[in-house]
Amino acid sequence: MKLDFIQNIIRYKEISSTNDIASKLVSKFGFHDFTVIITDFQTKGKGQRDKYWESERGKNLLISVILKPNLNIKDSFVLNICMSLSIIDLLSSLSINNLKIKWPNDVLVDCKKISGVLIQNQVQQSSIKSSIIGVGINVNQKKFKLYNPEATSIYIETSKEFQIEDIKDSLLSSFKKRYKKILNGKLKGQKKEYLKHLYLYKERVNFNLHGKRLSGIIKDVDYLGRLVVDIEGEDQTAFSSDSIHIIY
Ligand code: BTN
Repeated sequence: MKLDFIQNIIRYKEISSTNDIASKLVSKFGFHDFTVIITDFQTKGKGQRDKYWESERGKNLLISVILKPNLNIKDSFVLNICMSLSIIDLLSSLSINNLKIKWPNDVLVDCKKISGVLIQNQVQQSSIKSSIIGVGINVNQKKFKLYNPEATSIYIETSKEFQIEDIKDSLLSSFKKRYKKILNGKLKGQKKEYLKHLYLYKERVNFNLHGKRLSGIIKDVDYLGRLVVDIEGEDQTAFSSDSIHIIY
C-alpha cells in the first residue's frame, strides 16, 4: 500500500492539554490522518490515571498526533508500541543508553522517567475511528518537582540543550516509518522489539490485583495492551492497566 502522509501542524503558545484540544478538534472537524497539535505550555497536562503531567514552559516536547488508522480494536496496542519505539529511536540517536519501556506508557533512562505516552481512541463497532497519541518528552528541563518515579530529561542525560522542533521532527519521522509498517500489516517485528525493551520482561514482579498482593513473571504484552503475567499455580493471565497495579 502506498501511503503519503499529509502532515498538518497546529501550534499553540498555551492550551489546557494537547490531547484535550485534539479530541475537541476531531469531534468538531474530523481531520485527516497525521495532524499534529503542539504547544509550549499546558495548563492541564494529563498523564495516565488522571495524573498531572509536569512541564516547564517552552522546555519540553508536548504533542498529540491525530491518526485515522482503521485498525481493529483487538490490535490497538500497536499504536502504543509504535510510538514507544519511536521515542526509543529518538533517544538512542542522541546516544542516551539504558532505555526501557515501562508498561503501559513510560520510557525510562536508568529507571528515571524521560517520556510518557497517553493514547485516547475513539472506537466505532470494532474499529478505531480515530486515535490521539499524546506524547511528552522532557527535553531541556533541568529540575522536576514531582518524583514518582524520578524524572529526567535529554538535557540532564546529555548536558546539551536541543531545539524542540528538531526533537519533534526526529520523533515524527521515526513514527511515520513505523506507522506505515503497521498499516501494511507488519505487526510482529515491532512487537518483538517492544518486548526487547520492556522493563522487567521475564522477571518476577509484585503487584496489586483487586486489593490482593500477588507476584508473577512478566511474559508478554498482548495486542490489546494487556500485561500477560505467569502467576504460580495459575494459568497465564492477561491484565489491563486498570486492573493490575505493578509495584515497581
Ligand atoms: C503518562 O506518562 O502518564 C502519560 C503522559 C503523557 C503526557 C503528554 S504531554 C502531551 C499530551 N497532552 C497531555 O495532556 N498529555 C500528553
